[in-house]
Amino acid sequence: MDTKTVRIDENKIDASLIKEAGEIIKSGGLVAFPTETVYGLGGDALNPESSKKIYAAKGRPSDNPLIVHIYRIEDLEKIVKNVSDEARKVIDAFWPGPLTLIFEKNDIVPKETTGGLDTVAVRFPIHPTAAAFIEAAGGFVAAPSANLSGKPSPTLAKYVCEDLNGRVDMIIDGGNIPIGLESTIVDMTSEIPMILRPGFVSKEMLEEVLGRVETDPTILDASSTQRPKAPGMRYRHYAPKADMEIIRGEEKNVIAAIKEKAAGNPSCTIICVSEHIGDYEGFKVKNAGSADDGNEIASNLYKILRECDDEGVEYIISESFSDKGIGAAIMNRLIKAAGHKITQV
Ligand code: TXA
Ligand code: MG
Repeated sequence: MDTKTVRIDENKIDASLIKEAGEIIKSGGLVAFPTETVYGLGGDALNPESSKKIYAAKGRPSDNPLIVHIYRIEDLEKIVKNVSDEARKVIDAFWPGPLTLIFEKNDIVPKETTGGLDTVAVRFPIHPTAAAFIEAAGGFVAAPSANLSGKPSPTLAKYVCEDLNGRVDMIIDGGNIPIGLESTIVDMTSEIPMILRPGFVSKEMLEEVLGRVETDPTILDASSTQRPKAPGMRYRHYAPKADMEIIRGEEKNVIAAIKEKAAGNPSCTIICVSEHIGDYEGFKVKNAGSADDGNEIASNLYKILRECDDEGVEYIISESFSDKGIGAAIMNRLIKAAGHKITQV
């Protein structure tokens, strides 16, 4: 398959290119597109054949459900059964935006899209190009992140091309992605709303609107033997090719332990906060961003993991970061990338 790549500026959306992208979806094809979280790999959410194609293009197990993306709130009730008062509150507070909500699905949503489940994950992105594209595509776009299964989600179009060139009909290059980590997922079908995947919309933010919110206990607990509620969270994910480990503890101890491990290992790369760059003189270092700026670290993380792959890095040692606010999402992805290898010093 030939993949056509087009550049669309979100501040000056090219209507004819968006129309072309929408037509591809309507005729059963696949288009990768930018959102505010990561790039998505889109197909018609209401067409079972399109969902099958998405799984094939990504190399993803078909029991791992897709998120359905909408561009206007009126369309929610066409695909879900019951929108509770609590769900309305969260929607008013955070949609459009980087938050995915899980509802009971309507019959119109095929089981191929939901990986066989009776529930459906719905997201209403705020990215202008995403919104225009979903509208042109007929209103319901199923989209996982636009990476090959098992690789870090793409935050630049060049990584989408690397993974999906020849596997999709079109790639919309929307430039840099503002958030850089996948959306927060909240299950609104459980008695107390439950976070299944942490993201930019943090537990603290959700609690302000909802009062009580729970977190799927499997998310941060390396030793948990329970099945995560979001099927996708159980796969080895967000992983670089290199072996990776995280060192956590008091600042001075962490720096000393990392230097000791890195010494004598020329292919080792260290991921650290910008405040510590000077402490690792003579070592290969990636700057994750300032310790005080979780958003900066979030937007750099997947880029750094992909760069390490490109550079053939065999071993990565990362500092641990704050787990407050968006930090919960950062640490969730980092721990997964490291295959749960985390040492306390
Ligand atoms: O930010 C995002 O959410 C991006 C952009 C493209 O919107 N999409 C994304 O999709 O991250 P994906 O497929 O890579 O991750 C979706 C996650 C998977 O872990 C999947 O198992 C879970 O959502 N999921 C989807 N539907 C679900 C459902 N009905 N119940 C539980 N988990 C669900
Ligand atoms: Mg993904």
